[in-house]
Amino acid sequence: MNTEEIYNDNADKWLRLTPSSLSDFTARPLVFEACGELNARSVLDIGCGEGYCARELKRRGAGDYLGVDLSEQMVKAAQAQEAKDQYGIEYRACNVVEFNPDRQFDLCIAVFLFNYLRVEEMQRVFSMVYDALHPQGQFIFSVPHPFFPFIHGSQTPPFYFGSRGKNYFADVNQKFEGEIWKRSGEPLPVQCVHKTFGNYFDCLRRAGFSSMPEVKELTVTPELVAIDKAFFSPLLNEPLHLLFTISK
Ligand SMILES: C[S@@+](CC[C@H](N)C(=O)[O-])C[C@H]1O[C@@H](n2cnc3c(N)ncnc32)[C@H](O)[C@@H]1O
Repeated sequence: MNTEEIYNDNADKWLRLTPSSLSDFTARPLVFEACGELNARSVLDIGCGEGYCARELKRRGAGDYLGVDLSEQMVKAAQAQEAKDQYGIEYRACNVVEFNPDRQFDLCIAVFLFNYLRVEEMQRVFSMVYDALHPQGQFIFSVPHPFFPFIHGSQTPPFYFGSRGKNYFADVNQKFEGEIWKRSGEPLPVQCVHKTFGNYFDCLRRAGFSSMPEVKELTVTPELVAIDKAFFSPLLNEPLHLLFTISK
């Protein structure tokens, strides 16, 4: 199945108003923390999905907010929720690889978008983001940890990418199918177009970013295990995600 079909078919399962999937606990709170004080800063949210992050950043004080996503059904779900909440978020359905914004932003976020793009597509999007940011604008994105599919072999809850027979260097741009679970027990299909650690740094530099990114390696912490041992403990201390923060 291609990415668009996966998200069109599962938009109703993704729509959520409170944390539900594993990464709502292990990654998104750290993305929000990295965004810091919003103080009416304008935000471009690429791969915004059904708007979970958009709504939270609006609650935290974001200003002008544009979310774009490939999946029409995810965008429809976001717009339906916006009609109820009236946060003032604009959503558009489009492929971010072909997207050129009509204005500049103070902050760009991409929460688990780049695992759907090949390296050359990610390069194009990084360049678009560089141009779309105001001077000193921030770019914050989370991706699966590139080691995770190779370290965590078992295709079991609450998260995996199937990487059997794949090689860390030789299989760049290969798509690994996976699933991530909600605490309710429901799995969501996800994909990872594999990239190495180095791919992210190379693409940022080529796009024009010249400062050092802050990179955090995210995992399941003992605090999360204390909340729900059965759900979180299988991945305690495993390298799950990377969180990049970089300024223009
Ligand atoms: C794991 S979901 C994350 C959604 C949202 N960022 C969140 O954190 O809830 C990944 C999203 O990326 C979108 N996506 C994948 N490829 C895309 C592309 N080429 N252009 C725009 N969106 C894309 C998918 O449609 C999906 O909504």
